Amino acid sequence: MEIKTSQKNYPVYLEDHPLKHFKKGSMDKILLVTDENVGKIYLAPIKDYFQTQGLEVTTFVIHPGEASKSLIGAEKMYHVLLGEHFTKSDGIVALGGGVVGDLSGFVASTYLRGLPFYNIPTSLLAQVDASIGGKTAVNLAEGKNLVGTFYQPEAVFIDPYYLETLPELRMAEGFSEIIKMAAGFDADFFAQLNHFLKENWEDERLEIIEKALTIKQHAIEGDVFDNGQRLKLNFGHTLGHALEKNSEFTYSHGEAVALGMVAITKESERRGLTKAGTTQQLIAILEKFNLPTTWPEVDMEEIMDTLRFDKKGRGDTIQLVILKEIGIAEIFPVSFDAFSMWF
Ligand SMILES: NC(=O)c1ccc[n+]([C@@H]2O[C@H](COP(=O)([O-])OP(=O)(O)OC[C@H]3O[C@@H](n4cnc5c(N)ncnc54)[C@H](O)[C@@H]3O)[C@@H](O)[C@H]2O)c1
Ligand SMILES: [Zn+2]
Repeated sequence: MEIKTSQKNYPVYLEDHPLKHFKKGSMDKILLVTDENVGKIYLAPIKDYFQTQGLEVTTFVIHPGEASKSLIGAEKMYHVLLGEHFTKSDGIVALGGGVVGDLSGFVASTYLRGLPFYNIPTSLLAQVDASIGGKTAVNLAEGKNLVGTFYQPEAVFIDPYYLETLPELRMAEGFSEIIKMAAGFDADFFAQLNHFLKENWEDERLEIIEKALTIKQHAIEGDVFDNGQRLKLNFGHTLGHALEKNSEFTYSHGEAVALGMVAITKESERRGLTKAGTTQQLIAILEKFNLPTTWPEVDMEEIMDTLRFDKKGRGDTIQLVILKEIGIAEIFPVSFDAFSMWF
């Protein structure tokens, strides 16, 4: 698959052993970034692979988790790059989930104003979502992803084999985003997921990942800077983000998005904006993938306060994403005051 953006085009290899397509080009060395969980299992063989390609490999292993996606984390990486005399013709390779990918991409885009970046996503969420689209980010104390760049990789290598070691909750989180994409863009894919049986995962995983990626690809192409079509990928994310933040991250991102999709659809359906029965279809599929569907007892006023500061609110208007029906997402601009009356 080839991703076309106004910044550049790049290949996404989705298959068993996709790294066979890696081309060293003019690079002499790479910084191979991973986290402790992924590194423990995959760092040694991947490092070996790049060395056999004639590259000098420096490794950089972060603690797993959001806290590592920080300016301090980025700065540590800059010092290593400088210490090892990395120049613009060397590269950075991310091997891990979205945390490793976002942080490495951010460093790759800013060190010496940009060096080649390669991504090997190892979580389902990173494989279907975070690894394409070119968004990089670090977190600040005030919130997630507040500092970042748009920077496209040279290539993305997706091997579903890595998912065999991914914990179940993390698998469910990836499915939350996949269900979001199907619900918003592709009714046939939604139906396929409805019939999906866990024991068939190994046979179907390439196809499922490819369908999700294709939806993301279409949504981002022609909208690299996140203002039109791509917004529809935020289905479930407006309320989801606020819940995630207000619960102090007791809900994982995927769980919060699942709850956000249900909550917004329930309300839009009640208002006649969404085809009757859609909420029930969503609930059924989310339950099937072990995702929560019952909005917790939280103070909606606090949720609204958090939303007010959400960077996605442009001025006083929220670009709400609702479903017209399964497979058709719509942007529904609503004033903040009107929206807060919904709940
Ligand atoms: N750039 C984007 O467009 C974009 C899109 C969505 C999400 N994100 C970002 O991605 C991050 C979330 O990504 P994530 O869910 O991959 O989180 P993550 O990177 O924290 O990975 C989740 C956990 O799974 C472990 N893990 C990953 N792959 C594994 C494997 N193959 N085997 C065993 N363990 C494995 C990790 O060590 C970690 O503990 C967030 O920071 C989010 O902001 C970015
Ligand atoms: Zn998300």
